[in-house]
Amino acid sequence: GIVVSSLLRETGMVTVDPGFMNTASCESEITYIDGDAGILRYRGYPIDQLAEKSTFLEVAYLLIHGELPSKSEGEAFVERVNRHTLVHEDFRTFMGTFPRNGHPMAVMSSAINALSTFYPESLDPFDDETIELATVLLLAKSRTITSYLHRRRVGEPLLYPDYSRGYVDDFLRMTFAVPYQQYDSDPTVVDALDKLLILHADHEQNCSTSTVRIVGSSHANLYASVAAGINALSGPLHGGANESVLKMLQSIQSSDYDVDTFMAKVKDKEDGVRLMGFGHRVYKNYDPRAAIVKKSADAVLSTLGKRDELLDIALQLEEIALNDDYFIERKLYPNVDFYTGLIYKAMGFEPAMFTPLFALGRMPGWIAQWREMMKDPQTKIGRPRQIYTGATERPYVPVDER
Ligand code: ACO
Repeated sequence: GIVVSSLLRETGMVTVDPGFMNTASCESEITYIDGDAGILRYRGYPIDQLAEKSTFLEVAYLLIHGELPSKSEGEAFVERVNRHTLVHEDFRTFMGTFPRNGHPMAVMSSAINALSTFYPESLDPFDDETIELATVLLLAKSRTITSYLHRRRVGEPLLYPDYSRGYVDDFLRMTFAVPYQQYDSDPTVVDALDKLLILHADHEQNCSTSTVRIVGSSHANLYASVAAGINALSGPLHGGANESVLKMLQSIQSSDYDVDTFMAKVKDKEDGVRLMGFGHRVYKNYDPRAAIVKKSADAVLSTLGKRDELLDIALQLEEIALNDDYFIERKLYPNVDFYTGLIYKAMGFEPAMFTPLFALGRMPGWIAQWREMMKDPQTKIGRPRQIYTGATERPYVPVDER
C-alpha cells in the first residue's frame, strides 16, 4: 500500500527504510518496471521492441519528450545533437591534464561537471529553451568525452566529429580510427552498441538516477546533477558491476580452481565475494535487458570471429546459478551487466571503459528524470530524516581532562 507522507508528518512519525526498499521518492511517467514479471517499458513501449526497432537518439527523444518523434522532429533532433559534438579546445586541454591511467569514470564525471563552466548560458533550470540546450549539449559532448576517455588511455589524439555519420557509427570512428585513415565500422558492431545504449537508457529510480534527482532538487544545474549520477554509477554494486564481471571471469580463467569452487566461495560468502552481474533490487525474475544482451553477446562474438572462453565461463556460472537453491531462494538472476562486458571487450574496449559506456547510455534517462522533477509541482528539496542514536547531551571536556 501507499502511505501518504503528510499523514506521517501530522502524527510526528518518521519511517526508517535503509536502502529505500519501500519508499517511493516521486511519481514518474517515464519508465515502468514490473520486477516479478520481468517487464521494462520506456513511456509505455516494451524494451525489446525499442531495442529491436529504434535507435539510441530516438529513444533519448522518447524518454525526454514523452513521445516518439515524427520524422522531421527526429531529424531535427539528430542534426542539433550532431552540430554540438565538437568540444572547445580548452576543454580538450582540461581533459588532457588527468593522469592517463586514472579511472575514466572519475575523468568523465569531472568533465561533465566542467561543461557548466564552458556553457554558462545553459544553466537556468527553469527556462525551457535553456534546458533543451543543456540536454542537447550533454548528449553531444558526452559522446565526444567518452571516445576521448579511450583515446587518452591509449595515447591517441582526440578526433573531430564527422557530422555525416550516425551517433553510434561516429562514436566508434572517433574512438577507434587511426588519424587520417578511412574508418569503416562493422554494421554488426554499430547495431549491437546502439542496442546496448538503448537498454541502458533509463531504469527509473536506481542509485544514480536518485542521486541526479536529489542533487537537482537543490536546483543545482543539470551538469552538476548528472556528474553526481556518474559518481554514483561508478560503484561496483551499480554500473561498475560490468567491469567487475569481466575481472571476475578473468580471475576464474587464470586461477587454478574451477567454476564450482568459485560458486562455493560465493555461497559461503567467503571474504564477501559475490557473483557480480547477478541479483537486482527490483528484478526478482530474469532481467529482460540481460536476456537481450545474452543473445547479442553470442551474435557479436561469432560475427566478429571473437569466440571468447570467458563467455563459456559466464554461461557455466549462469547454468549453475539457475539450478542452485542459494540463488533460487534469493531470486538472483543475471542482470544487464552480466554479459555486456564480453560484448564491449569484443568491440575493442578495455574493462575500465565499460562503465563510461553505461554512463553514455544512461545520459537520456538522467536528463529526462531531472527535467521531469524540475517541472513537478510536488518536488521539494530531497532531505531524508534520521533516527539519532548517538550520545545524549554532555558537557565539553577540556583536552587535559580527557
Ligand atoms: N552474489 C551472491 N549473493 C548475492 C548476490 C550476488 N550477486 N546478490 C545478492 N546476494 C545475496 C545477499 O548476500 C543476500 O543474502 P542473505 O539473504 O543471505 O543475506 C541476499 O542475496 C539479498 O541481497 P541484498 O544485498 O540484500 O540485495 P539488494 O537488493 O540490496 O542488492 C544488488 C542488489 C546490489 C544488485 C546485489 O544483488 C549485488 O550486489 N549484485 C552484484 C553486483 C551487481 O551485479 N550489481 C549490478 C546491479 S544492476 C545495475 O546496477 C545496472
